[in-house]
Amino acid sequence: MAENTRTVTCEAPVNIAVIKYWGKSNEELIIPLNDSISVTLSTEHLRARTTIRSNSGSREITFSLDGKEEVLTKRFLRAVELCRAEAKRQNTSTAEELAQGLSIVSENNFPTAAGLASSAAGFACLVTALKHYYRITGDVSGIVRQGSGSACRSVFGGFVRWLKGTAPDGSDSIAQQVKPASHWPEMRVLILVVSDHKKETSSTHGMKTTAETSRLLKYRADVLVPQRCAEMTAAITAKNFAEFAEITMRDSNQFHAVCLDTYPPIFYLNSVSQAIIEMVHIYNQYKGTPTVAYSFDAGPNAFLFTLEDNVNEVAGLISATFSEMIDFRGLPLQPIRTEASLADRL
Ligand code: ADP
Ligand code: DP6
Ligand code: CO
Repeated sequence: MAENTRTVTCEAPVNIAVIKYWGKSNEELIIPLNDSISVTLSTEHLRARTTIRSNSGSREITFSLDGKEEVLTKRFLRAVELCRAEAKRQNTSTAEELAQGLSIVSENNFPTAAGLASSAAGFACLVTALKHYYRITGDVSGIVRQGSGSACRSVFGGFVRWLKGTAPDGSDSIAQQVKPASHWPEMRVLILVVSDHKKETSSTHGMKTTAETSRLLKYRADVLVPQRCAEMTAAITAKNFAEFAEITMRDSNQFHAVCLDTYPPIFYLNSVSQAIIEMVHIYNQYKGTPTVAYSFDAGPNAFLFTLEDNVNEVAGLISATFSEMIDFRGLPLQPIRTEASLADRL
């Protein structure tokens, strides 16, 4: 019997939100309470890599992540089901192909579930691989969104906005490119890995508790974020780094403020994160204008934005600051540093 065995491998990068997504209006469909804006990195740096192989003669789907067999989550299975349904609708795969089992293997080249956007790279990668596997055409950000919200922004390169949309079924909650990476090629990101530990509160669980208990979140989502998205889009369009930097830092701080306003509170930052924040403000004061901006997702690890000309000075500052500090074992603190540029396309 001729078996249809196929293999597809894809890579997808992380994206870093400069206006954060935190809170859903629909848990099932992953519709966010507010729009968000992010920067997609190049796959040369932090990326997921996923391979899909047909499971000959079987209907079973298996998934391994970073070398470990995983139990399939509802969201993972949903991503596969939505891609199969789309392939059926587009008539791009045979019924036999659509029914065949899959062996899916993925690995991230950076710590998973540590606040470095692994769910974003991971689900963008899974759905892109499925898209190629089933030969689907067109935008899949609406499917990616239903795997992990932030992931829909990794479908595009450069500066990306995820619209919350207005349709109750989430059909217009999609990602759109604001500007390609080539619009601002001087933009650089330094990634400081303070801790590679798996976070105690996943983003999904954390934002659900915030949405249920924080009154501040409602004001943020309804009033502050819409204003901020407009200001951020203008700053990106005008390549105004000082504006971009201030809004980025303020939004990161506000996101962590709503985490603290959650009841019981959630702490994603640690003392090293705080030292990084202080270091950036002292440096910016010395420069007389915002020259570096920090942003922290749901974890203690820092993303520092700066322009190409400042990278060496900022890198020197980081080394100098952290060689003065010691960790809880009495050893010098040395955050792992990666320098990244933006990607133009996936
Ligand atoms: P992070 O801050 O790293 O995005 P999250 O709590 O949002 O952390 O999500 C982590 C989860 O994302 C993992 O436990 C796993 O279920 C999923 N994930 C991470 N990487 C991948 C991947 N490469 N492929 C599929 N799913 C992934
Ligand atoms: C702090 O996209 O990981 O990184 O949609 O439940 O999978 P789920 O959550 P996730 O949340 C990301 C939160 C954030 C901010 C952001 O990326 O916008
Ligand atoms: Co995530």
